[in-house]
Amino acid sequence: MPLNILAIETSCDETSVAVSSDGHIVSNIIASQKVHEQYGGVVPELASRAHMQNIVPVISKALDQSGLSLDSLNAIAFTQSPGLIGALLVGAGFAKSMALSLQLPLIAVHHMHAHVLANCIGEVTPSFPFLCLTVSGGHTQIVRCDSPLALTVLGETRDDAAGEAYDKSAKLLGLPYPGGPLIDQYASSGNPHRYTFPEPQIDGYDFSFSGVKTAIMYFLRENLQSDSGFVEKNLPDICASIQHRINTILVNKFRKAALATGIRELCMAGGVSANTGLRKLFREMGDSLHANIFIPPFEYCTDNAAMIAITAHYKYLAGEFADLSISPEARAKWD
Ligand code: KG4
Ligand code: ZN
Repeated sequence: MPLNILAIETSCDETSVAVSSDGHIVSNIIASQKVHEQYGGVVPELASRAHMQNIVPVISKALDQSGLSLDSLNAIAFTQSPGLIGALLVGAGFAKSMALSLQLPLIAVHHMHAHVLANCIGEVTPSFPFLCLTVSGGHTQIVRCDSPLALTVLGETRDDAAGEAYDKSAKLLGLPYPGGPLIDQYASSGNPHRYTFPEPQIDGYDFSFSGVKTAIMYFLRENLQSDSGFVEKNLPDICASIQHRINTILVNKFRKAALATGIRELCMAGGVSANTGLRKLFREMGDSLHANIFIPPFEYCTDNAAMIAITAHYKYLAGEFADLSISPEARAKWD
């Protein structure tokens, strides 16, 4: 009998449901919430309401696509933390009611653990131990993964996440939210060495992006004083230079961790790993270390329930189940 798990992800602005069968993803439906674009960021209350509207149709679609029926499921999994509390509550509430009514075990998954294990979906996966650079809109971490359930955070951001650094820089340039993909787009025709921004000097494996953000703010203010069309005239070069700095901060730290641990299975995860410049830099770094490089397909990099399902699969095998009284948590460390 195959082990079939239905997983629900509602931590931010994506309502996603996936079904896995023996650790293979058989469906992964993602409903992105467009309602936030006009506000320049995710509005928590609107996110909860959109999850409420989306959750039933997304579950039905995921089940349909999997070809499985409710009575062939073995467990229900959900993202328990971290995230927007109202958004998490929708997924947690739904998962608990499904587990109760179907008399199935419940599995609680940490969202950041799942981002890392997105690398374990598919045919070609890293061997253990591996290192993962997780770069999303809310988090930036370097994680050592010794087995599917033994993860250690080696370093993380002390202020903004990499995605926030992208989105806030884009906002300073007058670009709409989320600006990360737009910076990537403009950067493709720009010169990354035209302008330089400082690289923070922080010990260990932690990151900081607040200094870069402030430097960009002063840089724009100064140049706009003498030329009000400065941004429009130089957008590709400005974007390429910002992108280059954010990415070199990420890759230089990760390289340091790879050298110190001696690990040569190197992975990336999270929405920012879609960045063209970062993918290129990461591969170059990996090649120079003769390492094996893994970057999940885009649909498993941004928020998705497939990564929750794969993590739940390993938790099921280890007998790690949650009680029905469990509550979601907005912030929770997991290592
Ligand atoms: O992992 P994710 O989908 O959601 C969170 O868990 O936060 O990451 C979203 C972040 C946003 O900040 C978005 O601007 C950024 O990923 N992002 C990018 C690119 N695509 C998405 N940043 C830079 N370049 C991209 N191509
Ligand atoms: Zn995420």
